[in-house]
Amino acid sequence: MNTIGKSLRLTIFGSSHGEGVGCVLDGVPPGLPITVEEIQKEVDLRRPAEGIGTPRHEEDMVQVLSGSKDGLATGGAITLFIANKDRDSSKYLKFRDMPRPGHADYTAVQKYGDSHDIRGGGQFSGRLTAPIVAAGAVARKLLTEHGVTIGAYTESVGRVIDAKPRTLQEIVSFGRTNDVRAAAMDTAELMRQEILDAKAEGDSVGGTVRCVVEGLPVGVGEPFFDTVEGELAKMMFAIPAVKGIEFGAGFRAVGMRGSECNDPFIVVDGRLRTSKNDAGGVLGGITNGMPVEFRVAFKPTASISKPQRTVDLREMSERELMIEGRHDPCIVPRAVSVVEAAAALVLADLMVRGGFID
Ligand SMILES: Cc1cc2nc3c(=O)[nH]c(=O)nc-3n(C[C@H](O)[C@H](O)[C@H](O)COP(=O)(O)O)c2cc1C
Repeated sequence: MNTIGKSLRLTIFGSSHGEGVGCVLDGVPPGLPITVEEIQKEVDLRRPAEGIGTPRHEEDMVQVLSGSKDGLATGGAITLFIANKDRDSSKYLKFRDMPRPGHADYTAVQKYGDSHDIRGGGQFSGRLTAPIVAAGAVARKLLTEHGVTIGAYTESVGRVIDAKPRTLQEIVSFGRTNDVRAAAMDTAELMRQEILDAKAEGDSVGGTVRCVVEGLPVGVGEPFFDTVEGELAKMMFAIPAVKGIEFGAGFRAVGMRGSECNDPFIVVDGRLRTSKNDAGGVLGGITNGMPVEFRVAFKPTASISKPQRTVDLREMSERELMIEGRHDPCIVPRAVSVVEAAAALVLADLMVRGGFID
């Protein structure tokens, strides 16, 4: 299904090479100041970068079709649309019979048959994340008005890892100034080189995006099933190429003793805090007032220019596949904005549900 959220409800639509992609965001409080320029700024950050990406000739231009007047949300559904302009579908047609390993061609054709729009990956294209970013800009604005700040950055690319957990301050001040969306200059250069090395070999690399959210009040999250972790995980797994998510210490926690893993409670300026944050800001599925911290794992881009083995589904014979067309050797830098937007949508929805936003 294409709808997520309960009080702030997002529906996305479109396909990679159809007329365009877009979304309907329902439940935005009337009077929220939001301009098309603010939305466009976020969508521009999702653009592929020169050198490490595959620049499109046309830029994604956001159109606001409903839900906003004179720079303020009306309270009606906000409809955003981004037309597809830079399309060459010819190179995709063969994937119906010769599916790309690692992409959704095989499963989509098996499930939807001839109805599946194979052009540019159809509804499985990373392009569907553009309306998520657009809607996320609105959710982010709503959160900002309530003192919540979100920042994500490229924490690792292939074998290059930024081992220093970056503060929100570092992320916000540096993370948007470089094309790999790293939080530090030295790692940005190493990550860039890692992507270029993979590209030179006709290959691809994956990586992780780390996200930090500050300013959330204690009590956000709706257990049993709509916990902060559960809702964020569901949203993150909707992003194409995501293979994992962990909160705080995540999988590292299994190797710790309880005495190491538990975050001791302390008092800072009269408020309860924890002296470290291995819980990632969530206890019992509810925010505890510490920053919510999580990382999302992205696999390497499926479409690579190296020859690969596939099966010709008409003959059920093994074949060699050569993929042409534009594909980023690493989608992680572009996914940073997507993770931020996805987090904003989930947390704004939970804040409305919890009565923290009217
Ligand atoms: C921003 C973004 C851009 C993407 N671009 C590409 C791409 O150019 N080529 C590709 O093969 N996959 C790309 N993907 C990933 C595929 O859409 C995804 O791997 C595919 O739909 C299969 O889904 P799965 O990996 O979640 O199983 C992109 C993903 C995102 C988030």
